[in-house]
Amino acid sequence: MNTAMVEAQGVRKSFGSTEILKGITLKIDRGSVTCLIGPSGSGKTTFLRCINHLEKVDAGRLYVDQQLVGYAERNGKLYEMKERQTARSRRAAGMVFQRFNLFPHMTVLENIVEAPIRVLGRPRSEVTVEAQTLLDRVGLGNRGGAYPQELSGGQQQRVAIARALAMKPKLMLFDEPTSALDPELVGEVLDVMKSLAEAGMTMVVVTHELAFARQVADQVVFMDQGVVVESGPPAEVLGNPKHERTQAFLSKVL
Ligand SMILES: Nc1ncnc2c1ncn2[C@@H]1O[C@H](COP(=O)(O)OP(=O)(O)O)[C@@H](O)[C@H]1O
Ligand SMILES: [Mg+2]
Repeated sequence: MNTAMVEAQGVRKSFGSTEILKGITLKIDRGSVTCLIGPSGSGKTTFLRCINHLEKVDAGRLYVDQQLVGYAERNGKLYEMKERQTARSRRAAGMVFQRFNLFPHMTVLENIVEAPIRVLGRPRSEVTVEAQTLLDRVGLGNRGGAYPQELSGGQQQRVAIARALAMKPKLMLFDEPTSALDPELVGEVLDVMKSLAEAGMTMVVVTHELAFARQVADQVVFMDQGVVVESGPPAEVLGNPKHERTQAFLSKVL
């Protein structure tokens, strides 16, 4: 029985003639936090984009909540998924990027309710109540009327998290969510992510915040040059890495 939220089996992805993911095999349990670490260019973002149906997998299989990414499986044969189906499947995951990508001309509250209303066709009144609860949850309950540029980077990133949660995703993907922030604003974003983890959200976090990984992650995955070099509990991968490449990477970022 496959009960993993994400299961990758030999996932490969090329851009042109360059193979970026060279057979990623990985399992992410429901309700777990996985921190993905590795040098720049190792394919971390590409892998997140595959999970989120933003990139097509070339070979291997990738399941999100037991659904094959990009393909429909009928009688053991694979058929490429239609764009409409892909768009629907994409909603399974909420994504938070390095840059907050909030709509600058909309208030915080409007940013959060926009997709549930436009994409899901849900009633504004209902969604607004939920958005307020989400704002409370990220510690910004009184900032719904503000515009993004009136907020600090840390506050904007917390709004971005609330906005992703408003779509009620099954899992959350974070791509270096704190690396564009001033150091003094990193903690407030990590705190929100920690509370999300405690509430049982399945999370995949690409990050260089190793203290966060040590404290919050159930699993740390070290990627290099398109493969998983090493994965396991943080105490093992960060505290006692087996592979020379992991050791070399950690000695640089620590
Ligand atoms: N759309 C694309 N077209 C061509 N090359 C890409 C594309 N996206 C990523 N790449 C390349 O894939 C490699 C891995 O990128 P990425 O997944 O962003 O790595 P990471 O997030 O670990 O830094 C990089 O060399 C990058 O230039
Ligand atoms: Mg990246």
